[in-house]
This record gives sequence, structure tokens and C-alpha cells, in this order.
Amino acid sequence: MVKATIKLIIVSRVIAIMNQKGGVGKTTTTINLGHALALAGKRVTVLDMDPQGHVAVAYGLDERKAGLDKVLLDSLAIDDVTIAARDNLDVVLAGESLIDYETIAEGGASRGHKLRLAIENSKLKERDFVLIDCPPATGLLAVNAMFAADEVMIPVSSDYLSLQGLSKMVHILKRVEVLSGRSIKLWLVSTRMNLHRRLAHEVRRRVLKYFPGRVFKTVIRENVALAEAPGFGKTIFDYKQNCAGSKDYQALAQDLLLGRIA
Ligand SMILES: Nc1ncnc2c1ncn2[C@@H]1O[C@H](COP(=O)(O)OP(=O)(O)OP(=O)(O)O)[C@@H](O)[C@H]1O
Ligand SMILES: [Mg+2]
Repeated sequence: MVKATIKLIIVSRVIAIMNQKGGVGKTTTTINLGHALALAGKRVTVLDMDPQGHVAVAYGLDERKAGLDKVLLDSLAIDDVTIAARDNLDVVLAGESLIDYETIAEGGASRGHKLRLAIENSKLKERDFVLIDCPPATGLLAVNAMFAADEVMIPVSSDYLSLQGLSKMVHILKRVEVLSGRSIKLWLVSTRMNLHRRLAHEVRRRVLKYFPGRVFKTVIRENVALAEAPGFGKTIFDYKQNCAGSKDYQALAQDLLLGRIA
């Protein structure tokens, strides 16, 4: 009798959370969406590609620990710098010298592919989700994240200026798609939304108009607990279970799992 072996192939979703504009909610989204997915039973790893190192602070971890700096600059394996942060949730911190990679001169065009290769040579492919928190820039670190990602999620906060850099980012994304010969799924999420302000609704209306079919249904409301939680090294789910922030990020996780758009 021939025994059939069924091999389970797990394909992780690598998602870069990026926007060249600062303060739009990239890190808040990465850390809380990561925890929401982990609480929903998914295996998640968060990578901090921002030299500011805010992921460490937000998860209550020691920001001086080695992380992606050693991976990119010294070719250490990602698995060797992965830290368990919560149940189902691992983290690779930025590390204190990640900023040095932004100005690295050697390596030519391959400099942009270092993160992708490091992910391919790691156990990250066994995870359900890999979320990459990106810096507010479009330099080498952001480009590495784009080359590594299957999907890009752009948080857009509720002010006109956050619409400003979007076309440039989408342009860079298109170039990366051409260079890598594959398509990258684009998502947008409205963040820091004050429902009482007309401007916030106007910005959301424009985002929906410019990116039809690409904007998540859930809107992340302005919520003071979301701003307070990192000060205690906590995610919104550690800090306040039943506030607007925890409800919104839980709903966003469902949007992502189900492909639920506005
Ligand atoms: N929905 C929200 N409600 C209230 N405060 C928020 C919300 N989202 C983010 N914030 C706060 O706004 C500030 C900027 O958020 P965050 O650090 O997530 O943005 P960022 O895009 O990662 O910034 P940077 O570009 O500097 O990396 C932080 O103080 C954060 O706590
Ligand atoms: Mg950030």
C-alpha cells in the first residue's frame, strides 16, 4: 500500500507598515495589530526596521538588545536575535546601530535585498504574519522592507498633509514591483480619526476615492489609551481591554484576516 504524505506548506504574510510621513500611527498599528493577531491565535513576528526603536519600548523590552542592526550589518541570522514578547508573538528589535545601514555604501544594488534574504533564510516563513514597522522615510531601510514584503499597509492619519506623500510612496512601490517582478498588495488604513472633525471625514473620503477597494473597513479612532499604553510598555490589549483602541485594532485584525474593505 502506498502511503500518501501530505506536506503542510505554510506561507507567511509579510506586511510592511509604512508611510514616509512621521507620526501617522505606523508603530501604534504594528504593535497593536501584531498583538491582536496573536490573540486571535495567529503566530506573529514583528520586525522593527525603524532606528528609533519604538517597538522595544512599546512591548516593554530592553531596546539595547541586538536586532536587525546585527542582521543587516553583521549578517547574523534573524532567528538568533528573535525575542518572545507575548504568547504567539515574537519580536526582532531594531538594535542600537540600525541607523548605520541607511548610509552603507558597499553592496551595490544587493543592499536593498538584505532583509528579504535574511527572512528567506530564517524560520519566519513558519509564522502566519510578519509585520515590519518602517521608519518615516523612503531610504534604504524602507526599500529593504518593500523588497521583503508581500503586502504594504499605509496608515493615513486624519490631516491633509498625510495625503501629501502618498503618491511618491506608491510610485516607489511600483518601481519595486517592476524590479522584483512581483506584485505587492497595497492596503490603506485610516488612523488617529477624530469622528467629530469634518476634516477627518474629508481625508477619509479622499483616500477612499483615490484607492478604491484598497482601504480597510475599520477606522482607528483617536483614543488616549493608545497614546498612554507604550509609556507602560504595554499594548492596548495589556493596558485597557474595552476601550475604543482595543476594539478598533481587534476589528482591523479581522479586516486583514478576511480581506474586509470599506
Ligand atoms: N489612534 C490614536 N489615538 C491616539 N494617539 C495615537 C493614535 N495613534 C497613534 N497615536 C500617538 O501618536 C503618536 C505617533 O504615533 P506612532 O508613533 O504610532 O506614529 P509613527 O507613524 O510610527 O511615527 P514615526 O513616523 O515617528 O515612526 C504617538 O504618540 C502615538 O501614541
Ligand atoms: Mg514609528
